[in-house]
Amino acid sequence: MDGLCVETCEQCPALVDSRSRIVNGVGPDDADVVFVGEGPGANEDEQGEPFVGRSGDVLDDALGDHGLRRKDVRITNCVRCRPPENRDPSTEELANCRPYLERELETIDPDVVVALGKVPAQHLLERDVAVTKEAGDVETVAIGDARLDVLVCVHPAATLYDRSQEATFESTIEKAATIVGAEGGQSSLGDF
Ligand code: URA
Repeated sequence: MDGLCVETCEQCPALVDSRSRIVNGVGPDDADVVFVGEGPGANEDEQGEPFVGRSGDVLDDALGDHGLRRKDVRITNCVRCRPPENRDPSTEELANCRPYLERELETIDPDVVVALGKVPAQHLLERDVAVTKEAGDVETVAIGDARLDVLVCVHPAATLYDRSQEATFESTIEKAATIVGAEGGQSSLGDF
């Protein structure tokens, strides 16, 4: 690992086979908020950046609605290599990649970590999570050597399959913006 970026890793044979590249987190290494997804999909694998497909559009729109800009936040994933057929990462793959995520979160030491969906929520909170029910809840947990506030959020893609998730998603992003003092919508973009 060089800084916050993993340059080479061969720990997960299935992911080494399915990936085109390692997809590291993007955004400032002193960001106030870090968004953590599950793992790269096809678009992310192709472009080498987290959340650049349709889920990324949903996330970017919600950030903009609440006074946050993509370039000011950190966006990363539980695993950095695309699982085959977009399956969930296995327990072993999550464990293999965890030191990289822990190092990233310890170094950045954000005010809030937003877990985007069930896999990151369960991975970070180390317990079963009913995401729809717990969305908007904040729990303080040990992550590596840090103690961090984790905000549970539905995955942006959930809003594409189920419109009823949109309000939950938006209000959780609004809560993240409030925590980092960026609330106020697009008019405050330049101030954040
Ligand atoms: N979904 C994720 O969980 N992560 C990405 O980077 C893209 C989609």
